[in-house]
Amino acid sequence: MALTRIDRHGDIAVITIDNPPVNALSQALRQELWDAVATLDADPTVAGVVLACAGRTFIAGADVSEFDQPPQPPHLPDLVARIEGAAKPWTAAIHGSALGGGFEVAMGCRFRVAARDARVGLPEVTLGIVPGAGGTVRTPRLAGVQAAVTLVTTGRPVRAPAVLSMGLVDALADDLIPEAVGFARDALTRPLPAPACARAVPPVDDAFWAEAEAATRKAARGAEAPLRALACLRHATEAPFSEAMGFERQTFLDLRGSDQAAALRHVFFAERAARQPARLRGIAPRPRAHIGVIGGGTMGAGIIAACQGAGLAVTLIERDDAALARGVANLRAIHDGAVARGRLTPDASAAHMAALTASTDYAAIGACDLVIEAVFEQIDVKRAVFDQLARHARPDAVLATNTSYLDPRAIVRGLPDPSRFLGLHFFSPAHVMRLLEIVPTPDTASDVLATGFDLARRLDKIPVQSGICDGFIGNRILKRSRAEAEALLRQGVPIAAVDAAMRAHGLAMGPFEAQDLGGLDIAHLQRQGARAAGQTVPDMLADLLVEAGRKGQKTGGGWYDYAPGDRSPRPSQAVARLLAPHLGADPGLDASTIARRMIDAMADEGCAILAEGIAASAVDIDLVMIHGYGHPRWRGGPMFARLRG
Ligand code: 3HC
Ligand code: NAI
Repeated sequence: MALTRIDRHGDIAVITIDNPPVNALSQALRQELWDAVATLDADPTVAGVVLACAGRTFIAGADVSEFDQPPQPPHLPDLVARIEGAAKPWTAAIHGSALGGGFEVAMGCRFRVAARDARVGLPEVTLGIVPGAGGTVRTPRLAGVQAAVTLVTTGRPVRAPAVLSMGLVDALADDLIPEAVGFARDALTRPLPAPACARAVPPVDDAFWAEAEAATRKAARGAEAPLRALACLRHATEAPFSEAMGFERQTFLDLRGSDQAAALRHVFFAERAARQPARLRGIAPRPRAHIGVIGGGTMGAGIIAACQGAGLAVTLIERDDAALARGVANLRAIHDGAVARGRLTPDASAAHMAALTASTDYAAIGACDLVIEAVFEQIDVKRAVFDQLARHARPDAVLATNTSYLDPRAIVRGLPDPSRFLGLHFFSPAHVMRLLEIVPTPDTASDVLATGFDLARRLDKIPVQSGICDGFIGNRILKRSRAEAEALLRQGVPIAAVDAAMRAHGLAMGPFEAQDLGGLDIAHLQRQGARAAGQTVPDMLADLLVEAGRKGQKTGGGWYDYAPGDRSPRPSQAVARLLAPHLGADPGLDASTIARRMIDAMADEGCAILAEGIAASAVDIDLVMIHGYGHPRWRGGPMFARLRG
């Protein structure tokens, strides 16, 4: 079936790609474009060509699903060169996203016109590769080296107006195709600019590269592709065009087969599958335009900020006026932080605060489509809240709990219509962390479950369905990993060595540093509660610390000591003395062995979770660890590591 069609607008030919869902450059499409260049060059009635796409986007890049097979001709760099060398000038008409190979094709065109809301980018490093069709070579020639370094090493797409000012597109359009055709025709009346391949690169000095390398290494945190991409960019500014193209292609092919690229492809497809689970296809979600949040503490305020950021209306309910004022202040602090970081304008922040309905009266919840409870983690408090919700919420409203450990069934037991309840477990800070564990009860209706996934998509979260167990998927694995960290300690491995090993693995901090940051007391209280309820809970070294008043950074010490106002961990003599009777002699394990032990323990727990049907798939578990607990994407997660051996 043809993936392209050619329409005529006088002497301008418009070639439209129609290769759903995202016009990826499969071998068949590359071949059609290859042939089209010859056809259009040979047609004496064609003076110029516009390259456009049907559907939701311009070309989203190379077809990632072909990356596990040997490359098939025509190869993308050759296709881009053929378009660049065409006898008739090509103009790319960009709508949606022009990404990776898609943007490289656009850079091969003599001109680029973009819809005002389009985005362009070179996200290859997020897939563990570098641009493979001239992205590192043509971008600095069109936009200068600084802009190219940012685009290529971060992989972040840029909006059309910014791209225009970088010089990467020539014009913005409101009515894309007619305006692109008009642009292509006007261009014929002027001398043609040099193609990207024939342009010079503005020189930069060694100091620039040293700085760029230091910044890229820091941001990459163990990922290989950003540094290799930077090396390609440097080559592209120092070597002739064709040599730089060869260097880039070789780097692309090297990395395409790497473990990191395989891991990142695994995460790429897992994220897309997670957002649209096949089992919910065709089930219409319920409305979720107006969200109710009960409790404006740490989680509630973050959830409100996430909802407002996604354009949803929010009503906050608190238990009394003082708590309500604190909740509103918590939300304001989040918005202020976003303003300070340039992520929100002061006007948008003020508009969010003004739009919030805040009340201590549950009657206000009647306006909401979906209500999320985020009050204290105590069953009686939560049951009382749901009792109020059952009375005041609309009968079709979805009611959700953000509980971390309680059984959602126990929270709503005895209330009418159990089909509308589910768990929506956000991670802290809820406006930042992308994971959302969705926890249906056996009674949850499928359209209520679909509403949870729909909300996640709207909030740009990664939804993962979890069955009911202690800690659901993520906190259950966290508990296991903390036990393994303590097992290493008991064996004699130093605290700092465990943390350093996990940092070297790619996490932002190790398990002991993370406990000090979050506080050791909550887990301690939970263990005490479980013991009091007659459950068997293993003794933890962390309990000795809490009993000695060491609850983490907030008390000036936990596993480490902290100087006032300084968050850097220092080895603690007091902890060494306290734990000495419980620890063996240091076995001198190296960092990779320590990390392996930790990751293996997590994968073991993941296997148990799978066997019990708590998670639907191993990739879901990896998504939980990556998006909820900061595991590096480029390792693919503990289950991927287990699979690869
Ligand atoms: N190759 C193959 N399949 C792709 C794809 C690609 N490059 N990009 C997206 N898809 C698939 C998805 O897997 C999904 O499939 P499914 O419906 O079967 O689950 C479908 O297209 C729709 O994708 P999204 O759900 O992500 O759709 P959105 O509308 O939310 O987003 C998008 C569209 C912004 C284009 C987004 O899909 C995206 O960011 N894609 C990846 C772009 C990318 O990384 N391109 C670089 C590829 S590498 C490259 O080009 C190398 C070159 O330099 C040689
Ligand atoms: P928090 O103590 O910061 O906030 C709880 C809020 O609930 C307070 O503002 C309190 O005034 C309010 N509240 C208490 N009773 C209420 C009532 N009857 N009606 C209305 N509001 C009431 O607690 P946090 O950390 O926000 O946790 C809330 C829930 O989220 C808990 O179930 C917790 O387990 C869960 N959770 C917490 C995470 C975290 O990292 N803090 C992560 C994920 C889930």
